[in-house]
Amino acid sequence: MEGKQMDKNFLWGCSSTAYQSEGASAEDGKGASVWDTFASVPGRTFGNTDGRVGVDFYHRWEEDLDLMAKMGLKLFHFSVSWPRVLPEGRGRVNEAGLAFYDKVVDGCRARGIEPMITLYHWDLPQALEDAYGGWESPQCIDDFVAYARLMYEHFKGRVNYWITINEANIFTRFGWLTAMHPPAKFDQKKLFFQVNHNLFLAHAKALLLGKKLLPDAKIGASFAYGPGYAFDCDPRNAEARQNFDELENYWWLDVYCMGDYPLVGEHYVRGQGEMPDVSDADRALFRQAADAMDFIGVNYYHSNVCEFNPPDGAMPFGYPNITGAKGTETVTGMPGLYKNPPNPYLHRTNWDWTIDATGLKYACRELTSRYRKPIFITENGLGHLDHREEDGKIHDGYRVKFLRQHIAAVEDAARMGCDILGYCVWAFTDLLSWLNGYRKRYGLVYVDQNESMNGTNRRTPKDSYYWYASVIASDGRVL
Ligand code: BG6
Repeated sequence: MEGKQMDKNFLWGCSSTAYQSEGASAEDGKGASVWDTFASVPGRTFGNTDGRVGVDFYHRWEEDLDLMAKMGLKLFHFSVSWPRVLPEGRGRVNEAGLAFYDKVVDGCRARGIEPMITLYHWDLPQALEDAYGGWESPQCIDDFVAYARLMYEHFKGRVNYWITINEANIFTRFGWLTAMHPPAKFDQKKLFFQVNHNLFLAHAKALLLGKKLLPDAKIGASFAYGPGYAFDCDPRNAEARQNFDELENYWWLDVYCMGDYPLVGEHYVRGQGEMPDVSDADRALFRQAADAMDFIGVNYYHSNVCEFNPPDGAMPFGYPNITGAKGTETVTGMPGLYKNPPNPYLHRTNWDWTIDATGLKYACRELTSRYRKPIFITENGLGHLDHREEDGKIHDGYRVKFLRQHIAAVEDAARMGCDILGYCVWAFTDLLSWLNGYRKRYGLVYVDQNESMNGTNRRTPKDSYYWYASVIASDGRVL
């Protein structure tokens, strides 16, 4: 398929995270993270998988970087494990942890690959959870900013792209509303909003510090953006979409990009008695950080349908599909406001995620119109059961199709005037999925690993690896 030739500077990338890839969860002085603790309790993740093995990136980083270089990758986006560099979350630095990230960063640069670091991808040091309840306490803001300073100063001149916090909307929802992520609290709406307020302050302070210490660096936050479509033209459903956007999207995006909470959403949350205290100084800080933010990091997997939800209707917690048995996910929503039924026009993955490439174009256009900021697609990919076939290879034509359509949508959005800096496939290798074990594979490179965590970790490039190499080589013209 013929695509649009993107600019030579367009950053074709791939993403991964510390917890999902590194393994070595107690090696070389690493402290425990809240995920190490959470996943060690049986019944919480698919197949009781935890991060002890990951896909052994801690020991195989060199092999992976070589494979990236061979593919012509322009950017590698990964997260640093906070407790690997600060085992107690603050104070004492673990030099061996820093040395590991030195190898990865320098290894990228030596191969002509731009490193992009996410400072926080959910693996909070357990010590901070124990000391003061982690993100529930404002103390966590200062500790996060001190950690960010350490990283900025250490990697000054070597890392030019930074993400402060990944998907605050996802991990706080799972952590404080549905008990599916640490700290496993259920239906704690007031705390949920307080935690998010603390995260906004942490983001704003870390971003402004980064801009001061590294004036040439580009810094953003990444957000799991699932745009909402009204179910139909029933005005109640049109309003359900507005409510969905206020509470599920703009709540984060407006703070990041405009420096304040969405007005109608804030009015509603205040009315529910759930609004945290927000001082004038907080709002001034948000505005300063919004002006300084270089790009919006967009993690896009699917769009959502919004339909009016009666007061006794769907709740935010249902049965998520973490087994890959299609059709088992229940509808969730906010009683009295909206619910998110399946889209009758679109197919879904085995894990019930709607497949909607147009939604990515829609997302880029919405963000551009509302915020007028550059966009970086920091994650996009397909979770699928992959199998090694008789010839020993992995023929993932379905993933090529998915990525082709989504990249074409990004190119279309760029053609329409959206300023898109780069695009990252989630993920370079197969990884451990937080809740779904190893079956839900996303990688361009297959990794021999499974729920018993006794695989060899051998890497085999899939068909999608070779296809993405040709996309990169043609700057996006050959899809
Ligand atoms: C994003 C996260 O929400 O989705 C990733 O940033 C995650 O860490 C990805 O793995 C896919 O989610 P899942 O649940 O299918 O692994």
